[in-house]
Amino acid sequence: MDTAKFEEVFEAKLAKNDFIEPKDWMPENYRKHLIRQVSQHAHSEIVGMLPEGNWITRAPSLRAKLVLLAKVQDEGGHGLYLYTAAESLGISRDEMLNALLTGKAKYSSIFNYPTLTWADIGAIGWLVDGAAIMNQVMLQRSSYGPYSRAMVRICKEESFHQRQGYESITHLAFGTPEQKAMAQDALNRWWFPTLMMFGPPDRESPNSENALKWRIKRETNDQLRQRFVNQTVKQVEYLGLTVPDKHLKWNEAKQGYDFSEPDWDEFKNVIKGNGICNKERLASRNKAHSEGAWVRAAAEAYGKKQPEKEAA
Ligand code: 3HC
Repeated sequence: MDTAKFEEVFEAKLAKNDFIEPKDWMPENYRKHLIRQVSQHAHSEIVGMLPEGNWITRAPSLRAKLVLLAKVQDEGGHGLYLYTAAESLGISRDEMLNALLTGKAKYSSIFNYPTLTWADIGAIGWLVDGAAIMNQVMLQRSSYGPYSRAMVRICKEESFHQRQGYESITHLAFGTPEQKAMAQDALNRWWFPTLMMFGPPDRESPNSENALKWRIKRETNDQLRQRFVNQTVKQVEYLGLTVPDKHLKWNEAKQGYDFSEPDWDEFKNVIKGNGICNKERLASRNKAHSEGAWVRAAAEAYGKKQPEKEAA
């Protein structure tokens, strides 16, 4: 078939909401778009383990430690699914890791903020994982089969993450005045960086048009951000806390909240590498990568020694 025919088959699959699978023909720009998004999603999962891992040794109880350990471990698994999904598009694991370790590839801006108190761990589970779920539930309907299927598995585990965070922040919000103040302080510091997770405003999103055309994204950055605010404000009110946005106001006509936009200059600065923790996060990933070289060498040596498996 000539390219025009391949394109016709590709478009017909999209129109029927059929998955595009690794062995299917796909436009080069579709492949590149997915490699960019899926690999950066994987990087976000792996780097996201660092701010939370920072509190494993300081969790206030054995139960809290166990729950946080399980969550952080899950994030590593999410990274693995997503790197594997990205590899099915023809990029190697080494290429992706090299892009992360050299600072060329992005990961979610949210992980460049510090976790200053135990309340931050609750805020991350509640807000950050809550925002991630909102985005990832939408991505379960992504047109690329391996990405969509990875999302189905990840969303199941994310709901545990969000619940554990919300439980922890609820404990503080209904605790002593000092605990409630810690919960409010964490909300103040994590609210706007969480809104940035959904990406720049639609008016400044260069990738959204193609993402929507190719059904990689099914909703826009602003639509998801709005839905997140609408849902989360009610939880904040239940907790007796205050959203750190004096312009937040219910808009009856749109059946949603009007709210202040995040500081997009701060966002651009963070994704350029100048956030509070960017350098620390990259240094930690590089240190872990070099310290893990012996494990990779051993696994490769073991792999070479295995007898070739007959084709099933
Ligand atoms: N952090 C870092 N970079 C971001 C960003 C963010 N929060 N939001 C957008 N960007 C980057 C984009 O990558 C793009 O840069 P690039 O072209 O060099 O890749 C640029 O800003 C413009 O943004 P667009 O809106 O045009 O880009 P996208 O269409 O890719 O939308 C996105 C951005 C919404 C993040 C989309 O890529 C996406 O849905 N990604 C998958 C979800 C994801 O990565 N989530 C990260 C969190 S994972 C997580 O939270 C783990 C949880 O378990 C805690």
